[in-house]
Amino acid sequence: MSTEQKLKPSVEKYILESRKLLAEQEQIKSRMKNMKFDTIAVHGLYSVEEAISRNQGAVIEPLFLASSQGYRDADELEAAPAYLIPSWAYTRIANPTTFYLEQVLALLEGYKTGRETSCAVTSSGLAAIMLATSPLLAKQKTGPEPINFVSSIQIYGGTYQLFSVRIAQERGLEVRWIQHPEDLEEWKAKIDENTRFLYVEAPSNPQQSFCDLKALSDLAQAWEIPLIVDATCATPALLRPISYGADIVVHSVTKSMTASGLAIGGAIISRRPITTKLNHPDPKFKENFAEYVKNWPGRDYGAALSPFNALMALNDLRTLRMRLDVLSQNCLKVAEFLEKHPRVNRVDYLGLPAHRLHSLAKKYLKLVDSDDGSGQEVNRYGHLLSFRVDGPPENARKVFDRFRIIFRATDLGRIKSLATIPAISTHQQQGEEARRMADIPPQLIRLCVGAENPADLIDDLNQALNSL
Ligand SMILES: Cc1ncc(COP(=O)(O)O)c(C=O)c1O
Repeated sequence: MSTEQKLKPSVEKYILESRKLLAEQEQIKSRMKNMKFDTIAVHGLYSVEEAISRNQGAVIEPLFLASSQGYRDADELEAAPAYLIPSWAYTRIANPTTFYLEQVLALLEGYKTGRETSCAVTSSGLAAIMLATSPLLAKQKTGPEPINFVSSIQIYGGTYQLFSVRIAQERGLEVRWIQHPEDLEEWKAKIDENTRFLYVEAPSNPQQSFCDLKALSDLAQAWEIPLIVDATCATPALLRPISYGADIVVHSVTKSMTASGLAIGGAIISRRPITTKLNHPDPKFKENFAEYVKNWPGRDYGAALSPFNALMALNDLRTLRMRLDVLSQNCLKVAEFLEKHPRVNRVDYLGLPAHRLHSLAKKYLKLVDSDDGSGQEVNRYGHLLSFRVDGPPENARKVFDRFRIIFRATDLGRIKSLATIPAISTHQQQGEEARRMADIPPQLIRLCVGAENPADLIDDLNQALNSL
């Protein structure tokens, strides 16, 4: 239904009634915005008042597993799917439990950015990337063609497949790859008036590439196009790209945000408004991109997050900052060990001073709300690293097969340490040529360090490497 359509007075009754609920939500949001990161992560928008007045005092957000909502009459039923009242209607469209997750992620990603933010959660990280990019690639009646977008090639293998196969091959749009995302000149050379957006992963999985986010967002703004950042590996506890001018942040909520490993999920968080020169008939497209995606493309493509998964994510998010602090410290210890091991010929971890992008990453990757004693935030670099085993690819496989407590799994962000060989797993589909461009040799092992005591992890790695 269009909002210009004449509404019956009986429908308006529900709209007026819903204003009270919206005002209450706004009040709680404003209160939470003045709180620190950990307080927001722990409580989100679920307040003591709401618990007592509507949920029998339940301390944890209620889990709404029902697929749909019942209404009082036809008028209320009509107002709901037209978004005239704050209702949820049907779990593919919205759900009260996923609502809490969206609100807390919008607040965390917008924390200390000085920007208003909104969020749409999705069934997976890849669904978030598909839904964040697809509306920006829509054909325009009079827009310039052929459409292209510019992306770092140092991205998760599934994202590479989405861009190169689903979007480029199947839809005939052009993706222009950037091999060295830290090199602004390479980006400048690839953008033109038909470019719809820039896309980067920071830090990247598995290479640990990084870029100058401020300079890149300035470049995007100069072309009036949005910068999209996949900040899955950093999480808002270490990096909030919107504070450097990024327009849209995407996450695999599956990863460090839901470290227990009990749920798959994704999120799109946008600042309000986003930078775009696209002429879209719905003003929300520019003004509130994440909400636009949630209300329209999200509902039509149907990649909704399960409310059960939303609750798993909410629970793990409460400890995000402290977890990323500990896991980053563990990862640094493991990286320092690997750096010195004679059977390892290269370690990529942005926290190592020897890493070629260390000083760039140091400007951006900081533990939110920390203090090094002189009023500066403490640097933390996350819990993902990669290392290259000396010798032929067979050596990497041998070391990998010897791990005793480190799981061999195509996953990351867990509370338990996990390792994979990306060339034969996460980045297998993209083929040798694209792996070469993305710098993913078969000798590279990706390790995501968990919360075990790092001494035990080092012992495990040591015995595996010494078996060569
Ligand atoms: C950086 C990054 N972005 C996105 C994704 C896709 O997320 P999901 O597996 O939740 O679809 C992954 C998955 O590994 C990832 O590592």
